[in-house]
Amino acid sequence: MRDLEGRVALITGGSSGIGRATAIALAEAGAAVVIADIDDAGAQETVRLVEQAGGRAASVHTDVTRWEDLERMVAFSVETFGRLDIFHNNAGINTGWPRFPEVPRERWGKTVAVNLTAVIGAIQAVVPAMRLGGGGAIVNSASLAGLVAYEMEPIYAATKHGVVGLTRALAFLKDEAGIRVNCVCPSFVDTQLPRRRLESMPPEERERWEAVLSRMPMLAPAEVAEAVLELVRDGSLAGEAMAVTYGQPPRLVPAAMSVR
Ligand SMILES: NC(=O)c1ccc[n+]([C@@H]2O[C@H](COP(=O)([O-])OP(=O)(O)OC[C@H]3O[C@@H](n4cnc5c(N)ncnc54)[C@H](O)[C@@H]3O)[C@@H](O)[C@H]2O)c1
Repeated sequence: MRDLEGRVALITGGSSGIGRATAIALAEAGAAVVIADIDDAGAQETVRLVEQAGGRAASVHTDVTRWEDLERMVAFSVETFGRLDIFHNNAGINTGWPRFPEVPRERWGKTVAVNLTAVIGAIQAVVPAMRLGGGGAIVNSASLAGLVAYEMEPIYAATKHGVVGLTRALAFLKDEAGIRVNCVCPSFVDTQLPRRRLESMPPEERERWEAVLSRMPMLAPAEVAEAVLELVRDGSLAGEAMAVTYGQPPRLVPAAMSVR
């Protein structure tokens, strides 16, 4: 279905995993895509894959923890493709082992910087361009770790709860500016992220968590991309957290209550 023809999408963390799958899915739906990532070789490979699938794509070197890079990725999108309609706010990292509170401050600080501060900053950078275009759709990559007690990575869980809270609290942007902010909350997805987390653990911890993971089969990145596109397409959704878990259709998880 090429229903996103003429739209322009920006994806942070589009050099691999979920972001790359979303880039391809958006391009197949007709959107032009911009990949913003710190990994230039991966970004170029995503551009190649999109072009190979008949789509239009470009990449811009972006470290999401730098304000000037966030502003540059937005300016680049508008200069290259003329507008900005869709934003997948997706770059994210693990803290890895040792687990908090043993992990050094600079390591958990980086997780907060990439997974939460940059997610907030990127929305602030993107909104003016979307306002100019009359509205848009933002999909944040949160996680199931943002909805449940996730003891494997306490700081990662804290940042993802932050992203879910931010998403729900930005529902008002739909009425105010025609900008719909939603998030996906996937369980484990087959990308380098969970693999790196396991590799960082000592053998006995790794064995224990591998047993936990064996009870939760991994999703394919393309399944998460499908949920992202659902949130982009459904004009009624704003401030929603969509859980994506193995073997079940994606579903919205309501907030305990709303204060409006
Ligand atoms: N894989 C999972 O199990 C899983 C589950 C739930 C949520 N998520 C979330 O989905 C998102 C994508 O993760 P993924 O699994 O595709 O992992 P991934 O490691 O394959 O992709 C993450 C991307 O973010 C980029 N990135 C990291 N730091 C950056 C920075 N400072 N500036 C710009 N780009 C940066 C990386 O280069 C990479 O391309 C993350 O936010 C992650 O927390 C992943």
